[in-house]
Order: sequence, then structure tokens, then C-alpha cells
Amino acid sequence: MDRRKFIKISSSMACGAVVLSHGPFLARSAKAAAPASSGASGTGEVPDYAKHMLDSDMNGIGPDGKPTGQKATYTGASKANTKVAEAMGHKMKLTKKEQAILDGKDGKEKAKLMKILVAFGNTFGAEKLVDLGGAPHSNMFIGAGYMSSMIKMLEECVKAGLKSYATYTVNPRPYDVYNVQNNAQDMMMIYEGYPLQMKLDYIHARLGAPDLNYRTCACYLDEIGNAPKPGTYVAWAESSAVNYGNSVLGIRTNRNGAGMDLIQAMLGKAPKFGLMTDEGRKAKWLVEVKTSKEPDWGAVGTAIGRKCVEDVPYITGLDKYFKGGKITADNLHLLKAMGSATASAGAVGLYHVEGVTPDAKKKGRKLLLKGYKTYIIDDKEQARIIGTFPNLWPKKDGNPTAAFIGCPHNTYYEVIKWGKLVTEALDKAGKTEAAIPVYLFTPNKVRDRAIEEHGELISKMKRAGMHATNMCGVSYAGMKGFSDKVRGVTNSAKTRNYSTIRYFPDEILVKIIVTGKIPKSA
Ligand code: F3S
Repeated sequence: MDRRKFIKISSSMACGAVVLSHGPFLARSAKAAAPASSGASGTGEVPDYAKHMLDSDMNGIGPDGKPTGQKATYTGASKANTKVAEAMGHKMKLTKKEQAILDGKDGKEKAKLMKILVAFGNTFGAEKLVDLGGAPHSNMFIGAGYMSSMIKMLEECVKAGLKSYATYTVNPRPYDVYNVQNNAQDMMMIYEGYPLQMKLDYIHARLGAPDLNYRTCACYLDEIGNAPKPGTYVAWAESSAVNYGNSVLGIRTNRNGAGMDLIQAMLGKAPKFGLMTDEGRKAKWLVEVKTSKEPDWGAVGTAIGRKCVEDVPYITGLDKYFKGGKITADNLHLLKAMGSATASAGAVGLYHVEGVTPDAKKKGRKLLLKGYKTYIIDDKEQARIIGTFPNLWPKKDGNPTAAFIGCPHNTYYEVIKWGKLVTEALDKAGKTEAAIPVYLFTPNKVRDRAIEEHGELISKMKRAGMHATNMCGVSYAGMKGFSDKVRGVTNSAKTRNYSTIRYFPDEILVKIIVTGKIPKSA
């Protein structure tokens, strides 16, 4: 099913994840939070409106809406032709210590976690469990009723004294009642829709997550500091973080689902398969980007995701946008935009960029598997992909009502860039206020840095109607009734993929923000 349709009928959704090392948050010890009262508990059953969570266009649904025949496992380990019987028959080797945990030496809760982990590893043909390093990143961020069974299990683990092996980061919360949904109607919907949020946040505090100012899907930013060293085995969740971590940081994680991240964090171990292995990191696709100008990074990512589904692509033609092959604070957002699109239009958990990303720099085209396929993205193909993005607004010719920038979360560079772009365009037009509210999704730590270093600009942005928020923008777009009342515009291909929000390149988006209208040429 098209996820946009699902979002329209669902009140909330989750996305995917990962993690790492020495950063500001790691210097902090995980402190237990003050006691909190428990929220209302859910039924544990998947409600009718969320039943389509079991379907996804990551299952190779082409731009024409028809199946391409390729099935994703969502772990990042392509198992397109695996037979269930084969998967069930595999048994990985455990060490004596691991077997003892499984047999209950460290208590029944840890034994249960080990049982789940071993079954998970066996299903995907893992050879063994490996010790994790760096730090975890979790995408258990939604305290909705349908997550209650997982939340209950985590609560039991917390009560048994289990903790993550390292201080970890967590995805942004699904709402922000301070800056975005600061009205009674939305607040009521939130408190009714996320009755387990406080319970979940309390669990994170006790398992080892830092305070809510560190919540973000871009855990690898300097201001957050979860960026493990290349080659580190970690167990991240959040599709965009996993994709960035594997590709840009060079860490080794599969695409874990919500909950599996924390099971592995509490055991400090992960089954080694798929993207954690040398073989699983090899590319089945050579993608040649041959656009005449700088590509539309979101469109290129969408094209790759749709084509490769869950296979690893080796991408050429992009090194000229990274001076000296270096990924820096000023250009990492380009890979963040492209990668998150590959991970949401498809289920890509790792890509290589020739001359830029660490594995590609080390091994070059040796990463290409024998018999690899080639996909060329030129101006025509890029335009074709953009042409498949439908206008899903109920009132198709209406004017936009809000701009959504920062999925995955904005970097410091992006916040300042957007502040300047919008306020300078407003100055030019003789205005002080944008025609529509602009939501800049970014971790509080990035916002705080921007206030400290660019206080004057940030004040001007605030007066112009630009709101910094550390929530997840797609969760906001998933709120019941959102698509009927908000005609959103974005520069995030991931947001477009999951919602009714329309996608525009940066220069058009600025014009829309200033005028409140979509230029005729767009
Ligand atoms: Fe982040 Fe939410 Fe987008 S977690 S990547 S803002 S879907």
C-alpha cells in the first residue's frame, strides 16, 4: 500500500534507526529520571486504522503503482528469494557465556531478550553474535497504544535493572506542544493519541538515554555526538540514521525495527548478518549520476530507492560536490537528503559514493558484485522521477499553508542557511513576516547553538514566523485530520514519501514561503 494513503488514515507512525561514540552526550552519565506516573495503557492490539503498517511500498512498488517483484526484508539484508523453511532451519553458534544467558544465568528477563535475539539472528542466517561498540540509537519514540506490548516488555526489563551498554540517543518525539501544536485542540488529540508517551520517556531515562534536548534522528551531528568510528558494530534503528551511519560514518548496523534496537542495547550484542558483513556491504548496482547541474538530491535518492529497493548501490558522479572527497558540516546535508530518500522510497540501508564515502574510498569499484546492474540518472530521468510526485492535497489548486523543512533533522548549517535565505528574501520583498509558518525541525542542541552564535538572525527568523522544533515532522503530518487542514510544502523527499506534503526545490520553496503562492513555473 502507498504509505501516503496509510498516513492519511492513521494517527501516527514510526520510522527507523542507529548510532555512536565520543560526543557531548556520551560524556554524561545516564541518570535515572524522577518517578513519573503511568499513562493510560493501550490494548496491545493493532487498531484498525494502523493495520496497513504491515504493508509498504518498500516492497518494490514502482512509480506506476505496480509491484516490481522485489521484496524487502527492511533489515537492509536483501533476502528476496529466501525460503521460510531454510531461514527457520539455521542455527548460529553461541559462546558458552551467551548460552548461559539464554539458559537464565542472568535472570529471566535477559534470557527472554536473548531468546528473541537468537531467533532474529537465525532467521537472517547470522553466523554469530558480535559485541557492540559506540552507542545505540533507538527509534522507539512513539507512545501510542499500539506500542503497548513492547513498552510493557521494556518496563519489565527496567524493573529487573537492565540498562543499555552505553548512553544512547533516541528519535525526536512525535509532537511538540510548545512550538507547533500549541493549541487546545491539537493538545487533546496528542494526549489521547499518545497515552504511553510519558511511560516510554521514563523507560528511556532509566535505560540510559540523555535528556529530551538530545532527541533527534540526526544523532550523528556534532552537537549530539553519536558518531561511532568506522567499522564499529552497532545496533541502530531509524532508517535515515542507519543509512547515514553505514554509508557516511562507515559503521556496521542492520536496519533494526523499533524495540530490536533496545533489545540489542541491553544485551550489548547483535547477530552478525547483512550490512554488518563484508559481503553484505557489496553493491549490486552501479548508479551513474550524470545530471548537467547539481542534482536534486531528494529526487536522486528517490530514484535509487525505487530502483534498488534494498540492494546496495555504488554511486558515481557525485564526488565533485564534496571538495577533496571530504564530507564536512557544510555539505553532509546533501548525503542526508539523498540517503534518507533511498531509505524511504526503498529500504536502502547502505550506499557507497565513489571518492567520498569511507568504504568506497578504501575499496573503490571492488565493492561492485559480479554481474552488477547499471542505472543512469541523467536530466531526463531526474525529471521523470519528479514528474511522478503526485499532488495529494484534497484541494489541489489551493495555496500552501505551511512549510516543513528538516526531515531528517536540520544541521546547524541548514538552520543558518534557511534563516538567511528566508529573511533576505523577505527584506527584498519589503516584508518582515513569511506568508506561511515555517517549521524548522532540528535538535534543541542545534537550535541552542544557533541562538548563541546567531542571536540576531534567530530573532529575525522568529519574527518572520519561522519556528524551530525538535519534533518529528512526519509524525506531525501523520496526525489525524492533518492532510484535510494543512497544505504543506517541503524540500524533504522523505517527508513527501510519507505524507501528503508536496516537494519543491529550495529556490522555489523560498518563493512560496515569501508569497504564500506556488509560482506558475514550478
Ligand atoms: Fe526524522 Fe521523523 Fe523524518 S524521525 S527522518 S523527522 S520521519
